[in-house]
Amino acid sequence: MAKGKRFQAPKGTRDLLPPATGVWARVEETARRVFALYGYGEIRTPLFEETELFARGVGETTDIVGKEMYSFLDKGGRQLTLRPESTAAVCRAYVEHGMQSLPQPVRLFYVGPHFRYERPQKGRYRQFHQIGAELVGGRGAESDVEILLLLVRFLRELGFTGLKILLNTVGDVASRTAYREALREYLLPLRERLSEDSRRRLETNPLRILDTKSAEEQELLRGAPTLESSLTSVAADHFRRVLSSMEAFRLSYSVEPRLVRGLDYYTNTVFEIVSEGLGAQNAVCGGGAYESMVEELGGPPTYGVGFAIGEDRLIEVLPADSPARRKSPGPVLVTAVGKASIEGGGGLELVGLLEELRAAGVPCREAGSRGAKLFDLAEALDAPAVVFLGEDELGSGSLSLRIVASREQSTLPRSEAIARLAELFRT
Ligand code: HAM
Repeated sequence: MAKGKRFQAPKGTRDLLPPATGVWARVEETARRVFALYGYGEIRTPLFEETELFARGVGETTDIVGKEMYSFLDKGGRQLTLRPESTAAVCRAYVEHGMQSLPQPVRLFYVGPHFRYERPQKGRYRQFHQIGAELVGGRGAESDVEILLLLVRFLRELGFTGLKILLNTVGDVASRTAYREALREYLLPLRERLSEDSRRRLETNPLRILDTKSAEEQELLRGAPTLESSLTSVAADHFRRVLSSMEAFRLSYSVEPRLVRGLDYYTNTVFEIVSEGLGAQNAVCGGGAYESMVEELGGPPTYGVGFAIGEDRLIEVLPADSPARRKSPGPVLVTAVGKASIEGGGGLELVGLLEELRAAGVPCREAGSRGAKLFDLAEALDAPAVVFLGEDELGSGSLSLRIVASREQSTLPRSEAIARLAELFRT
C-alpha cells in the first residue's frame, strides 16, 4: 500500500507533456514568426489584475464577469482576479505606460494561460491558453483588415485551409444605443416567452439575446429588427470598407447578422473562426474592435482591434499534415558498457562524452546499457543514432555508432564520430 495521498491536477486543468508540448512549442514559434512579420512586439501582463479592471473593461453583464472569474482576496485585502482574457490588461498597460505618446498604432501580441471557471468539456478548460494580438491607436477599417490578414496568415502557416471567418458589425456606440432600444421594444411584448436568462438580459444587455442557443427563442427573434437598420452611416461605411477589403485580399468569410460575441467592449467589426471539429459553440478564435475601452480606463479616445485564439482548441483541430506536427529529432542515446558504464565506475567518462557531444551541438542523453530495450527506447524518443562506449572505445579513443534510419554501424575516431553525429542535426 502506498503511504502518501495521490493528487490529480485540479478539475478543468491538465498537464501538457512531451511529445505533445513539442507541437505547442512549434505552434507558438509559428505565431512569433508571423507576429514579427507584421511588426508586433510581445507584451507580458501579470497573470492577475485588480478585479475591477475586468468588471469595467469586459463588462458587468458578461458571463465572464458574472460567473466565470477566479477572484480572491490577497493577504493585503486586495480584490484580485486571475486573468480571464487579456484585452483589458493590454489597454490598462497602454494607459499605464503612456503608450499613446509612442508612434501609433501600437502593435502587441501575447501568448499564455488564462482562467475561467467554466464547466469543463471537450475544448473547454478552466486554465486554457490564448495566442492574441491587439492593434491599439489605429484608424478603423484598415486596422481591422490588418488584424484579419495577420490571423489568416498564421492559420495558413499552420496548414489550415478551409477555415471561414464569421463577420458582423455591432455598430459604433450611437448605433448600438439606438439598436438596443429597438430590440428591447420588439422583445418587451414577448417577455413572458423568454428564458429567465434572456429576461435578465432584456434589462442589462438585450444584444446578448441574439446569441441564444434556444430554438424557441431563435424563432421569436425571426421578426426582430436587424442591427443593420440602426447603423449610423459612419458605422455602415466602416463595415462596407472591411467587407470590400476581404474581397480584395481574397479572404473567405460570411456575414453572420446574429454574431454579437460575449464581451461588452466590442464596437463595429466583430468576428469568430469556428472549426467543424469542435462543435458550433466552440470557436477557435474570437475578436473585434473596441473604441471605448482605453478611454474607459483613463486614457484618450483610442481605436483598438484584436483577436485571441484558444490555443488548446487550435491544437485539437490542427490538420494532420500541419508543419507544427513535424517532429524534430530526439536526442542521440549514449550507452556505456563494462568499465565505461556507471556501474563499472566509468560514470564520469560518460558525462564527459555527453558534454563533448553537446558542445558540438548534438542533443544527447545517456541510456544505460539495456540491450534490446535500447532500440525500443530509441524508437520511442525518436533518437536518430545510438552511440556505444565500451572498454575498447575508451582505450582507442573511438566511438561506435548506429544510425537508426539506415541501420549503418561503424567505429570511428572520436572526433570524426562526433562530427558525423552533428551532421544529423544540421537542417
Ligand atoms: P473570447 O472569445 O472570450 O475573446 O476568447 C477567445 C478564444 O479563447 C475563444 O474563441 C476560445 O477559443 C478560447 N477560450 C475561451 N474560453 C475558453 C475555455 N474555457 N477553454 C478553452 N478555450 C477557451 C477574448 O478573450 C477576447 N479578449 C478576444 C479579443 C482580443 N478581442 C479583441 N482583442
